[in-house]
Amino acid sequence: MTIISRRDFLRVGAVGLAGAGLVHKGASAEEQFTFAVINDTHIKDAPSVEIVDEAVASINSDERVQFTSVLGDVATDGKEDELALAKGAFDNLDKPYFVVPGNHDVFPQATDIYANYVDAFGPVHWTRTENDWTFIGMNSCEETKSDVTVSDEELAWLQAQLDKTTPQQPIALFCHHPMNPNTRAYRILNADDVLALFANHNLKIVAAGHWHGNQIEEQDGVLFVTTACCATTRNNFDNTPEKGYRLFHLSGERVETEFVVVRA
Ligand SMILES: [Fe+2]
Ligand SMILES: [Fe+2]
Repeated sequence: MTIISRRDFLRVGAVGLAGAGLVHKGASAEEQFTFAVINDTHIKDAPSVEIVDEAVASINSDERVQFTSVLGDVATDGKEDELALAKGAFDNLDKPYFVVPGNHDVFPQATDIYANYVDAFGPVHWTRTENDWTFIGMNSCEETKSDVTVSDEELAWLQAQLDKTTPQQPIALFCHHPMNPNTRAYRILNADDVLALFANHNLKIVAAGHWHGNQIEEQDGVLFVTTACCATTRNNFDNTPEKGYRLFHLSGERVETEFVVVRA
């Protein structure tokens, strides 16, 4: 197995983020902290797991990574066997990982369309606090739709998480469908309603998948990203050949992100 470890820093760096208003010194510890995100692995059979195995090995080789967030579309049709293959691959991560569902992870033929997903990966949403940050994984799915409205129930769940979070605490929000203000497609239809919940909170990062491609923008101190897919069964929507995952490096509230190529 060949692991391509070439790392392409995208345009965001500490200096650039300082200029964009994303660096707020002194608010919390300056301890370095790194996490990974990977999305859109679209596993459907054993051969389609290989690229995920390569990504997992690459993440494991990076001792800085403290956890991995998997941002949906791990499977193709939300089938039990696909999700089991995905779980088998991600279970090889040395550090913890947390998953949110994508539109290809729900199984519309079932009464409970999330049952297969939950059997494999547990709750469809979660909150984790680490290193003075709060990490929230949200379920953005609306059945198998690509253009979605986040449900009132999910908004209420999100509000309940924020009620337990101090206004100062930096937050990274993860979901499958993008909220980038200028994503080339598929912005969550009520993204502004979701983001409004954070008006009195310290939202720093919103990371998503679904749009297969690297998009990074900053607005009002929030870094919005999507990441290329890590699949051999699908291509990137911007026709870039690189498949991989993303790292976020946190130092206090300073954020840097880089895309790691697994296959090109
Ligand atoms: Fe996808
Ligand atoms: Fe998707």
